[in-house]
Amino acid sequence: MSKAAALNVSIERIQRDIEHLATLGQTPSGGVSRTSFSSADKQMRQWLHGQCQEHGLTMRTDGIGNIFIRAEGMNVPKAAPVCAGSHLDSVPEGGRYDGIVGSVAALEVLRVLGQAAPALQRPVEVVIFADEEGNYHHLLGSTALVDNFTWEELQQLRGREGDLLVDALSAMDWDPRHATRTALSSHDVHAFVELHIEQGPVLEESHTDIGIVTSIVGLAGGQLDFVGSQDHAGTTPMRLRRDPMQAAGSFLGQLARIASGTSSTAVLTCGLMEIEPGGTNVVPRLARLHLDFRDPDPDVLSQLEQRIIDCASNAANQYGVEASFRRMSVTAPVPLDPHIRALLREVALGRNLSVTDIPSGAGHDAQNMARLTPTAMIFIPSAGGKSHSPQEHSSWQDIEHGANVLLDGVVRLAQA
Ligand code: GLV
Ligand code: MN
Ligand code: MN
Repeated sequence: MSKAAALNVSIERIQRDIEHLATLGQTPSGGVSRTSFSSADKQMRQWLHGQCQEHGLTMRTDGIGNIFIRAEGMNVPKAAPVCAGSHLDSVPEGGRYDGIVGSVAALEVLRVLGQAAPALQRPVEVVIFADEEGNYHHLLGSTALVDNFTWEELQQLRGREGDLLVDALSAMDWDPRHATRTALSSHDVHAFVELHIEQGPVLEESHTDIGIVTSIVGLAGGQLDFVGSQDHAGTTPMRLRRDPMQAAGSFLGQLARIASGTSSTAVLTCGLMEIEPGGTNVVPRLARLHLDFRDPDPDVLSQLEQRIIDCASNAANQYGVEASFRRMSVTAPVPLDPHIRALLREVALGRNLSVTDIPSGAGHDAQNMARLTPTAMIFIPSAGGKSHSPQEHSSWQDIEHGANVLLDGVVRLAQA
């Protein structure tokens, strides 16, 4: 067994933190709604600040809200850090574990290292990414670490409620112009490791403790607008209508066919729709569908986009309306680092855990970090494969296993 295995996380501390975070933005259904820069997110940031003070850690926040935490007391040479972390925002009515497990486990790694002070060649840094769930932009915080957003780009970004990102940043008492200066260089980070719940059924069904992620799916988002004619719902005969909702309905009925026509792995979702002007007695002018589509193969992603455009155009013609598609984001699929994957497998086996390789169908900040630095991910089982739902659940034992693998992996990387 490696020397690092002598250190262990405290599952009691991790459990206490996860249970506390579940109260920030708690919903009546037992889930969590903690959108980045919301009041629940502010409470989370205050809580984290308190944790850092209690455990002698220093916390810094960059211009777009990414949080960086270090144990400054640790006597390690100045060098690029090994980073670990995840996100503490959630989808609306999300669960208690998505992003939270990896963030709290990374914090725990720092607490353990702060206490034990093992000999390391480089610092360890926790990163908590802002708006991973993409209210304003898919993987907002990690995207900003890879490439600076321009001021013009930032000013365009709006959340689900139509609010501007720059206003949300100002409401945090931050200068939004600082959000244009966030990018890191590959010299700033030595490696990145993210622990996460699987969010699918594979590990639980195969009774496997740990998944080592091989690659992360490519994913794209776009707005599909159907524009017709706004009219009176009582007086406009059906034959005279140019109703964008009917075109949208026709398009939505074909989501599965559009996806399966490109590959068996492609998925296409519309989880959000806007209707303008929006009234029960008004034939709408606009139906805007927010689309999310994914595949591990970047060529399939392009084909899928073309099929969306073609199919939308057919549906629009059928109902005499106009269709237009605007691509909002594309995150390329990435393979994860083979050396760190091998190291994580070794430390997991060293703890007598069962391990398998697994691809990720969910998007993660690790996919942006992989463009900056050697990156890997550890998955733990999700009960029933449920995620992005209040029913999301992982056992304390599985969380402890994952956090200890993260601890050992980070220590090994920081000793090199
Ligand atoms: C993140 O949770 C995503 O896969 O959208
Ligand atoms: Mn998520
Ligand atoms: Mn997540």
